[in-house]
Amino acid sequence: MENISIQNNIIKKIPEPHGGRLVNRIFESKNINTKDMFSIEIDDNLRNDVENIGDGIFSPLEGFIGKVDFESILKFGRLKNGLPWTIPIILDVEEPIAKKIQDYREISLKNKGEHFATLYFDEFYSYNKLEMVRALYQSENEQHPGVSKTFKMKEYLVSGRIDVYKKINNFKLRNYRLEPIKTREEIKKRGWKTIVGFQTRNIPHIAHEMLQKAALNIYDGLFLNPLIGKKKIGDFKDELILETYLKLIENYYPQDRVMFVTLHTEMRYAGPKEAIHHAIMRKNFGCSHFIVGRDHAGVGDYYHPFAAHEIFKEYPDIGIEPIFFPSFYYCKKCLGYANERNCPHGLEYKEELSGTKMRKMVTSGEIPGKHLMRPEIADVIIKFQDPFVS
Ligand code: ADX
Repeated sequence: MENISIQNNIIKKIPEPHGGRLVNRIFESKNINTKDMFSIEIDDNLRNDVENIGDGIFSPLEGFIGKVDFESILKFGRLKNGLPWTIPIILDVEEPIAKKIQDYREISLKNKGEHFATLYFDEFYSYNKLEMVRALYQSENEQHPGVSKTFKMKEYLVSGRIDVYKKINNFKLRNYRLEPIKTREEIKKRGWKTIVGFQTRNIPHIAHEMLQKAALNIYDGLFLNPLIGKKKIGDFKDELILETYLKLIENYYPQDRVMFVTLHTEMRYAGPKEAIHHAIMRKNFGCSHFIVGRDHAGVGDYYHPFAAHEIFKEYPDIGIEPIFFPSFYYCKKCLGYANERNCPHGLEYKEELSGTKMRKMVTSGEIPGKHLMRPEIADVIIKFQDPFVS
């Protein structure tokens, strides 16, 4: 196929990174003497985000954010310089550590006792958790995974630029992780001018596939970018998401129209605020467009199903074009996937893959109809031991 964009009136170029420059703070070959450094132990989740800062997925952030940015993000959904940013990337510590840290300029960040990054201490500050959860999750309910996580956080936040000296080098879950510099090179190599990012924390249903393929009708390439990282109980496990996506691409996609890359960070379930964050990360990877469907990054009924569409009105300057989709379902009368914009039929004709149907499949082996889930995907799920996060 020729590498030209066929569509009119839409952005047709790889966007600049957020803030204008891709951050690169990875220095793997350097040897650092950590003997006299104060150290902080960082868990696997946060280490992922340190690496995301290091290789520019979180551009323009160069480290854990300070108090002014923190407050500006919660109040305005922007950094203090006005740039769109909705999720604070923070390091929480206990009071004695916060107080001690100020005697040091360089702090060793360790994971399981191993030094992997240096934090250049800037400041420590206290924060109000209630204000934080109201602003971020629009809820104070401890049943919300983000709220409950916040209430368990330590009392102080520490900010400062970071340098990463050792990337996480384990296991096959990372085989498809790529830095923005590499994804941008690959997009250029393929000659794509319009690239649609797709976020997911799920195994692929046919409804997902239909959204992706609707976008592929118009745009040059699809950037399939499942989120691999900490998720709530009851979500599908990362290994399974990876395996099912590879199966889907192998069987149902033209290989030259799809890039498959994993994103390693935690799900925050912050609905609309997280949709903005998701879009910014995909902009850094080089996507010109980003799919936002029904209840993007939602959980339970904390957010209106289309709150994640509404919020983009506040961000005309975000620099990546959202593609909004209404709710897709299978319509028994249309005999295909439809939505309220193109289908007049009533509720009795609508079919969707519910959580209950999925659970039934896992517990009893009863496979959903081929119009709801590809048999190859159902097969992988059924053969997988303990598919859900527990
Ligand atoms: S999310 O938490 O990562 O957003 P999920 O993986 O289920 O959850 O969804 C991925 C993307 O597909 C999101 O943009 C979501 O809004 C969209 N989506 C999922 N199911 C549907 C559907 N039936 N109709 C429209 N959009 C959908």
